[in-house]
Amino acid sequence: MALYDELGGDGGVAAAVDNFYARMLDDSQLAGWFDSVDLHQLKSHQRAFLAVGLGGPELYDGRSMRTAHSGLGISDEIYTASVGHLSDALTEIGVDAGVLRQVIRRIEMMRAAIVEVH
Ligand code: HEM
Repeated sequence: MALYDELGGDGGVAAAVDNFYARMLDDSQLAGWFDSVDLHQLKSHQRAFLAVGLGGPELYDGRSMRTAHSGLGISDEIYTASVGHLSDALTEIGVDAGVLRQVIRRIEMMRAAIVEVH
């Protein structure tokens, strides 16, 4: 079954984005990154993040991700914290451990393109 369906289709994906989004905004270490980004765009950012986990590189390749994040100075620590929130969000909505592992593995494929500070 496709990861998208494993998550419960449109409804499951929307629930996952909402949960993830709330966690990102609640984390003082992360919220500041999006201060100048409007909430609509921030939500669409979280959707993109999850889309990589579900669909992978055919949606966003490493080169476009490198360009989109160039100069932001995102660190490994910030990246790890973001992945942690996605993982917690998916766990809370009941995604099983095997699916979660696949999602995280896909997200990790973008780390090298996005992180600039080690
Ligand atoms: C797989 C993980 C990620 C994906 C797929 C992703 C996706 C994107 C995309 C598509 C854009 C361009 C948005 C646009 O031009 O409208 C973007 C910009 C941005 N991303 Fe990410 N991102 C990821 C991880 C992160 C992380 C971990 C952070 C740091 C907390 C971050 C912070 C930002 C910021 C601050 C922008 C600029 C927003 C703006 O000024 O419009 N991203 N990201």
